[in-house]
Amino acid sequence: MLPVVTATRYVTPLREGGSLPGLMEADDLGTYVVKWRAAGQGVKVLVAEIVCAELARALGLPVPALVTVDVAAELAVGEPDHEVQELLQRSAGRNLGLDYLPGALDFEAGADGVDPELAGRVLWFDALIGNVDRSWRNPNMLFWHGRLQLIDHGAALTFHHHWPGAEAAVTRPYDASAHALVECAPDVPAADAALAGRVTRPLLDGVLEQVPDEWLTDDGGEPAHAVRNRYTGQLLARLAARDAWLPGLVAAAATGGAGRRRGPVGANRPGWLGPPPPEGMSQR
Ligand SMILES: Nc1ncnc2c1ncn2[C@@H]1O[C@H](COP(=O)(O)OP(=O)(O)OP(=O)(O)O)[C@@H](O)[C@H]1O
Ligand SMILES: [Mg+2]
Repeated sequence: MLPVVTATRYVTPLREGGSLPGLMEADDLGTYVVKWRAAGQGVKVLVAEIVCAELARALGLPVPALVTVDVAAELAVGEPDHEVQELLQRSAGRNLGLDYLPGALDFEAGADGVDPELAGRVLWFDALIGNVDRSWRNPNMLFWHGRLQLIDHGAALTFHHHWPGAEAAVTRPYDASAHALVECAPDVPAADAALAGRVTRPLLDGVLEQVPDEWLTDDGGEPAHAVRNRYTGQLLARLAARDAWLPGLVAAAATGGAGRRRGPVGANRPGWLGPPPPEGMSQR
């Protein structure tokens, strides 16, 4: 299980995040980015956060430490924003905390280089978990102490929002054309050689063990151990079906994606705007 901490103070909402994560202090003297159980699509988002982050960690990819945070409704009283206060109150109880990385910089696609080995591993990992939320528009990566950190995996494992359709997700190609790292010359074959063999049933069982039972049984269906088995089975099937998605991923990495960011200056410029500005003056 993840470490359990108790929130002692609500600091501020992080308004960059659509789900309004909150910054909180806790009784272990840590500061956490708290993802609310009552936000948006509910606790499945928190399940995806844990499964993906702990899988990433097990594969040697950098992710902030995770905890569960017990939050008392009373902590909301000082929050002036009514929407945030209500979200906090509805989330009373157990929530997800990510270790806050003070001073972390948002990754900027095009400006920040990532070496081909790491870029390949992140791309491979995102294809495995079906992460639609690591685009150059919304990279969900931070630089902290000079090192890349992966965050925000709530939009991965989308199959768990509709299990009857999960089989179709096993072989679904991964669209990497707008991925934030696709222009970093990602070495996908090397990533596959290094990581595929490490994704085993015991490893996935250990990852799923980190998810609190109450979040797995939130929809009142099967017992927690059966739900854990479904996630493990789905991810192992996705891994075994690499013939269906790996060649496309290798090809996307080789061409560098749709080239939207590094197209020739003026390529998308409407004629009525006149000739493009001189090289070096254009926006990225
Ligand atoms: N562990 C962390 N340390 C420091 N800053 C963080 C951390 N986690 C998130 N942030 C900051 O908060 C922002 C929002 O976080 P995150 O992307 O996880 O939230 P979200 O609500 O899921 O966002 P989205 O709008 O992308 O769905 C990030 O872009 C980043 O700037
Ligand atoms: Mg985000």
